[in-house]
Amino acid sequence: MFITFEGPDGSGKTTQIMLLVEHLQRAGHTIYHTREPGGTPIGDQIRDVLHDLKNEAMHPHTEILLYAASRAQLVAQELRPRLQAGEIVICDRYADSTLAYQGYGHGLDLETLRTILTFATGGLTPDLTLYLDITAEEGLQRRQRAAAQDGEEWNRMDALSLAFHQRVREGYLALIANDPARWVTIPASGDRTAIQAQIQDTVLARLL
Ligand code: TYD
Repeated sequence: MFITFEGPDGSGKTTQIMLLVEHLQRAGHTIYHTREPGGTPIGDQIRDVLHDLKNEAMHPHTEILLYAASRAQLVAQELRPRLQAGEIVICDRYADSTLAYQGYGHGLDLETLRTILTFATGGLTPDLTLYLDITAEEGLQRRQRAAAQDGEEWNRMDALSLAFHQRVREGYLALIANDPARWVTIPASGDRTAIQAQIQDTVLARLL
């Protein structure tokens, strides 16, 4: 079972994934969880290039190919072998992030992106994608607060405009409308425990 989490920046995915992983491990499941970009030593080096605030001159095509390169390595090195071994794989962002951010956010051609994504992943598609939904305004406010109060990373993608992040969210909504069977939308602005309960119910229902 291959599960991905998607959502605008600041939707709280990372915290929710940690809680879900702990819950599933306590229930006896073997879980592999990772994040994008990154998840392998090569991918983590690519992540540093992508997130470096110094790299504001990065061309959108470069950006796509770097995300795709990180993903290709992750799929080959970790995701496919672990899925074949019967593990549950949970990934914080995957190919849908490229469609939402580079496609809808930067306005790059979706069909070209899909071709690049298929090349990078060999067509590996999630069985289930949980979309943590939050408005772009609220998401960015949360990220700014986390950066100021807890010293969390404020990266090159966070620094893009509100309009960019609004297009990303609209993009997610369009992706979901095109493939509703794979996606489950979880409203992510409320109470953390209640959101986690909804996530657990959704995942456990699919695991049965
Ligand atoms: P990260 O710090 O992991 O943020 P988050 O906790 O929100 O996932 O940063 C990942 C950033 O990279 C995020 O702004 C989304 C962006 N991104 C893309 O633009 N395209 C992609 O294909 C991926 C995987 C991420």
